[in-house]
Amino acid sequence: MTTTAPPRFIRCDQALAWGALQGHYEAHGRDFDLREAFARDPERAERFGLQAPEVFADLSRCPIDVAGTRLLIELARQCGVEARRDAMLAGEAINTTEGRAVLHTALRAPRGAAPFSDEVHDELERMLTFAEGIRNVGTSGIRDIVNIGIGGSDLGPQMAVPALDAWTHPGLRLHFVSNVDGHDLAQVLRRVHAHETLFVIASKTFTTQETMANAETALQWFRDQGRSDVERHFVACTAAPQVAAQFGIQTTFGFWDWVGGRYSMWSAIGLPIALAIGAEAFRSLLAGAHAMDRHFAEAPIEHNLPIRLGLMDVWLRNFCGAASRCVVPYHHGLRRLPAYLQQLEMESNGKRVDLAGQPLAQATSPVVWGEPGTNGQHAFFQMLHQGTDVIPVEFILVKHTAHAGQWSAEVLQRLEAQQRMLLANGLAQAQALMLGKTAEQARGESVPTAAPDADPELIARHRTFPGNRPSITLLLERLTPRSLGALIALYEHRVFTAGALWGINSFDQWGVELGKAMCKDLLPRLASGDVSGLDAATAGMLSRLR
Ligand code: F6P
Repeated sequence: MTTTAPPRFIRCDQALAWGALQGHYEAHGRDFDLREAFARDPERAERFGLQAPEVFADLSRCPIDVAGTRLLIELARQCGVEARRDAMLAGEAINTTEGRAVLHTALRAPRGAAPFSDEVHDELERMLTFAEGIRNVGTSGIRDIVNIGIGGSDLGPQMAVPALDAWTHPGLRLHFVSNVDGHDLAQVLRRVHAHETLFVIASKTFTTQETMANAETALQWFRDQGRSDVERHFVACTAAPQVAAQFGIQTTFGFWDWVGGRYSMWSAIGLPIALAIGAEAFRSLLAGAHAMDRHFAEAPIEHNLPIRLGLMDVWLRNFCGAASRCVVPYHHGLRRLPAYLQQLEMESNGKRVDLAGQPLAQATSPVVWGEPGTNGQHAFFQMLHQGTDVIPVEFILVKHTAHAGQWSAEVLQRLEAQQRMLLANGLAQAQALMLGKTAEQARGESVPTAAPDADPELIARHRTFPGNRPSITLLLERLTPRSLGALIALYEHRVFTAGALWGINSFDQWGVELGKAMCKDLLPRLASGDVSGLDAATAGMLSRLR
């Protein structure tokens, strides 16, 4: 049976505005110069600034003018992005290949405000009550929490817990084990004691190879420590509670098939976050996400930040040819955000056919990558500034610090001074990418580090920066549970928007299946050495690995 796209949605390359955008790109985009654009329009920074709940975005350093932006907005209208958004929020089965609704927004809506409200809130209450009980470390006796999960059952909590370090319980240590490589689990087990450890087995399906292998090994280790009270030390977060029960886990926090793995940190999968920051702060995380959901649902496209960012992503990808986007959070707490966004964006939008199964005419998800600033500056920024590829950079700045702990006035003063250094670095990198440095400017500078006998003209060439390299800056006042919730929801809806424009299903992930199936076939062969029927490359390497 073939699945066809609902007729009211038009793929971007089939919309009238697409042709207009192509013409606009040739006339005003291909040779767009950011420096000239700012010189022409002193209002450009204000014009391309957008405020959404908790997040301000500066799109002024993207290579597009006002007329191009209007065409992009028209494109969103013609493609039915708003209708598709409304269908998602109403619980229509927009994940057509799996026949599922896509309702992660229902997980953060107040009671009564979204589909499945009672189930969602009842389970949330259960989970938060449990989390508070564990956080009472005097009575629970728990000191270490080991989350065992992978992909969407790992990356959200693994990203959010360090981001909200200032809110985390000082007496609890959170560990995240995901890799099937036993080194991941072993290095955690070496550091924890069974009697004060809670294992959270997080898996939507409760069948994922990595998670099951780690869970079984953890259980074996637990028993080896002479313990039998599995019910006190193992809980499951899953949409398959009966499978968890077969595994021997009694305490289960559930969620539903309409929550995609990479959209699940708001559900029971968020248990490690709730354990770390507590019920009140977890509610605040949900409230921040909900505020962004309302903005996404209600703001006209012109002022709708997730839609505007999704449109910009399509402009940069399909017109400007950017095959990659570098995400650089200038907050060390957000160090796992690039990894989180890799799954969110690349598993969602790394697709090559549209909803009707037709090959796409245009490119989809870029490679998303990054590291926190300032660390990245001492690694890959050389390539961003002077490499041969133009890679849009996303700067995430956080204005104010949130340092937990007791500090002397002197230390605090120093920490605040470091915050100014951090922000100055972020600002400078975006500025340098845009302005660059001409050969003329380079020639005028003295360069004490240059080889003494080097030709000054040659050195000037090496020290020239082309500039005109695009970036987006997102600004948060503070990194709090609420602002983190809003930021992540912003990314979710931005990914949705780009996917809707491309006409793809952003909510399935068939691309991860093939390797999984082949691994199943190869696993026994590694033991037996049977290479019959294998391609020569795999057979050769398998023999070497034995
Ligand atoms: O990598 C594929 C995937 O299905 C992800 O989409 C998902 O987040 C991850 O595996 C983990 O799946 P589960 O939560 O079922 O263990």
